[in-house]
Amino acid sequence: MSAIRVLPCSGLQGSATIPGDKSISHRALLLGALAHGSTTVYNFLPGGDCLATAGALRALGIHIETPSDHTVIIQGNGLHGFRPSRSPINCVRSGTTMRLLTGLLAGQPFSSVLTGEDQLLRRPMERVAIPLRQMGAEIHTTNGRAPLFIQGRNLHGAHLTLDVPSAQVKSAVLLAALYADSSTTIYETAPTRDHTERMLQAMGVALEVRAINGGREITLSSSQQALAPLEIEVPGDFSSAAFPLVAALIVPGSHIHLKSIGINPTRTGLLDVLEHMGANIRIHNERRVANEPVAELEVQTGQLKAAEVSGDLVVRMIDEFPIFAIAATQAHGKTVVRDAAELRVKETDRIATVVTELRKLGANIVERPDGFEITGPVKLQGTTVSSHGDHRLAMALFVAGLIAHDPVMIDDIGCATDSFPGFLEIMRSLGAQYDPN
Ligand code: S3P
Repeated sequence: MSAIRVLPCSGLQGSATIPGDKSISHRALLLGALAHGSTTVYNFLPGGDCLATAGALRALGIHIETPSDHTVIIQGNGLHGFRPSRSPINCVRSGTTMRLLTGLLAGQPFSSVLTGEDQLLRRPMERVAIPLRQMGAEIHTTNGRAPLFIQGRNLHGAHLTLDVPSAQVKSAVLLAALYADSSTTIYETAPTRDHTERMLQAMGVALEVRAINGGREITLSSSQQALAPLEIEVPGDFSSAAFPLVAALIVPGSHIHLKSIGINPTRTGLLDVLEHMGANIRIHNERRVANEPVAELEVQTGQLKAAEVSGDLVVRMIDEFPIFAIAATQAHGKTVVRDAAELRVKETDRIATVVTELRKLGANIVERPDGFEITGPVKLQGTTVSSHGDHRLAMALFVAGLIAHDPVMIDDIGCATDSFPGFLEIMRSLGAQYDPN
């Protein structure tokens, strides 16, 4: 636990490079391990969650070198190059590690146990076990949660509709589909982040994606396909960029540039809402890196008006609600978030924790079963708040501290390193001030 005191800020200036994308870093490790040969990943995110995936793969016999903090080299041994872990695999606090590994391990010729820290052991796991069982997998949850026991089996192809729009579940099924005896088709009712599909295609896997009825159908046409190793440059994580981005919008007198940020449209729902709210954000130098769209973002302070967020947009900004809530406290009018009950099963119940902590700061916020309502603008007050050990809530509260009347004390900011190592240093380089509490 590391406590911090954040001081009111008089403006953010300058430019920052944001660490690599968490979702893409996980996938680069996992798909690199499945390829034949050596995959090099540049701008890898050495955050707690991705390190959990690296640790899990090492436990399964995969050789991973880290010539520098941000470069990893994975020696892939192909689809059948894993050996059983001698002990339960510790996924720490990472839901992505646990759910994607479940798919990968379902088709191995050995059994595995997946476990993790309390925060992870509270999260639902049947959502990934159910579709995998339809492919012949044997997965036992513990009252619907981890620890998970996976008895590897021969898998068969299937036609699946995912009840929960979840990139983690979709990706677990795609990894299992690589081992199945025939083709697999997945229908997702709303488009979720598609990094797995993009990377599989870049590695030479035959995969078709069709837009249907507002959702997407993905077919992995033949199974047991060999993956070609890659050199991958991971774009900056839009979900991390969201913190300095919102900070610059609401701290008066700010003007910042964020370099090389992934702007995959399945991830940038927050940009769309903020633009609709009147935010001053400019996108420069759009290009493609590692089969992903990337750009520079220029952000300046401005007045925001309230917005309504619901439906598919929720999926496209699923990790951004804690920081979006801070932006909404400064917007004119009533911002309403609905259709977002999924937030209740993230690292924390992010509807309950956001409402509790923002109320302490003096925000005008009302809890709803599937979201919240915030009426603004309100001058936030200094007080002591809790991150509940949730990295994104911790960083959102830090940003709240920059615009509050008096200093804001946060009980634990250390968890920010789960997804954004270097968060504090980057915020300081832009002009934020804080001290250990
Ligand atoms: C992720 C998918 C999302 C997201 C998580 C990372 C991924 O979860 O919230 O932070 O890398 O696939 P769901 O798939 O459960 O929505």
